Amino acid sequence: RILILDFGSQVTQLIARRLREAGVYCEIWPFDVDPERIAAHGARGFILSGGPASLTEDVSPRAPSFVFDTGVPVLGICYGEQAICAQLGGAVENSDHREFGRAFVDVVADCTLFEGVWQRGARAQVWMSHGDRVTALPTGFQAVAVSSGAPFAAIADDARRIYGVQFHPEVMHTPDGGKLLANFVHRVCGLSNAWTMANFRDTARAAIRAQVGSGRVICGLSGGVDSSVAAALIHEAIGDQLVCIFVDHGLLRAGEADEVIRVFRDRFNIRLVHRDASDIFFAALEGISDPEQKRKTIGRLFIEVFEQEAHKLGGADFLAQGTLYPDVIESVSARGGPSAVIKSHHNVGGLPERMRMKLVEPLRELFKDEVRELGRELGLPETIVGRHPFPGPGLAIRIPGPVDRDKVRILQKADAIYLEAIRAAGLYDAIWQAFVALLPVRSVGVMGDGRTYEFACALRAVTSTDGMTADVYPFDMSFLTRVAGRIVNEVRGINRVTYDITSKPPGTIEWE
Ligand code: XMP
Repeated sequence: RILILDFGSQVTQLIARRLREAGVYCEIWPFDVDPERIAAHGARGFILSGGPASLTEDVSPRAPSFVFDTGVPVLGICYGEQAICAQLGGAVENSDHREFGRAFVDVVADCTLFEGVWQRGARAQVWMSHGDRVTALPTGFQAVAVSSGAPFAAIADDARRIYGVQFHPEVMHTPDGGKLLANFVHRVCGLSNAWTMANFRDTARAAIRAQVGSGRVICGLSGGVDSSVAAALIHEAIGDQLVCIFVDHGLLRAGEADEVIRVFRDRFNIRLVHRDASDIFFAALEGISDPEQKRKTIGRLFIEVFEQEAHKLGGADFLAQGTLYPDVIESVSARGGPSAVIKSHHNVGGLPERMRMKLVEPLRELFKDEVRELGRELGLPETIVGRHPFPGPGLAIRIPGPVDRDKVRILQKADAIYLEAIRAAGLYDAIWQAFVALLPVRSVGVMGDGRTYEFACALRAVTSTDGMTADVYPFDMSFLTRVAGRIVNEVRGINRVTYDITSKPPGTIEWE
């Protein structure tokens, strides 16, 4: 295993993703974590991430000296390279030649990091983002690559197995970056590529059995990727000791509730309680327009209904949750604190505290793409495993203004047509999230010889990697007009279709 010490770069998680793609398990810890914890962890290699600080300032983050004293290989990236130089006797200075974005490096010497990827004399594209630069190397190091802005674009001490790169190998704009990181973990650290979802499945199954023993587990199932994969994995481990509770708030996409039942109850033989609670949810939502109020109402009711069902079952010893690794990383960059709460996200938040059960969280170590791979490994259908993200409050936040059954029904129909067209055009996987929002606006139209006065809707489709930022998906105009034609012709209640071309920021992905 590899330990990535985080100095607060925005892209530290990408380092972990690349290493895991190379079949090596790794974790991300803050750079200033207790060195004794690091020692006990027994890492076979360290990676020092980039970060926003400057080593030319008096007080700046440093790597624990332990990292350099154990003889375990070290790779420093950007700030990490500078930290290596500053801490081992080299020098770092502020540079007036800053490098941001695409750059080229010339390979001037061979080293283990470059084996089979770059040879001396080669020129390679990389992605840079630095103001400071290394100006003198510690003893034992040599420059192995140079760029116009960084005479020490890559440095190596092959004997001590310490390396540094000024560029970012973890981002896709460094085309050979993944291979360099793979070289570090395989050739330098000597780790095999044993981290696969097939192996994970076996170990996780055993770990769940060991944790749960003969206890009972309940799991809130929503049809989303995370809870679905968690349920399938736990069921494989403990069979009928698991009961899933599916609180159906009536705000799902068309056909989705049926699919959850078909897949989990009929195909996987999982004990599944399906509670149609839509009456309660619609009654509580009546007349509520404020988005946060909608979220709170749905979140509160969700917990209440879930608790009722759990109580009917006679309780359980454990609560299963589909928590993922990005939720548990102690992120250095988040320490400054995100400022305003833009939207309060409800998932099953609040349940564990309320129910005082022990948690089973078998996906805690995984990134989203690994969860999908594990789901495929477990035999879950692609419609669930590859599904776009869907918000907990469901269609309620895609209907600005008050929500009722009729509006939900109209929206479900339009949304189904849109998604079907996206799938048929082979675009589903290229899009991060796509949906229709039903606008609380009526407009005049003409159909046949008659006048219509119905709702407008907005189609939304974005590309993104994590939902934090998003770009509009550039459909062909002909695709959009085809979908618009179908919606207006087939969905009574909608007579006008618009395409939302706002990126995030300044927009958000959802309308509320
Ligand atoms: P926004 O609209 O904030 O959405 O740009 C970013 C991502 O988060 C999802 N989202 C939610 N998910 N509960 C959830 O579980 C919520 O209240 C919620 N609001 C937004 C949204 O679908 C997108 O994927």
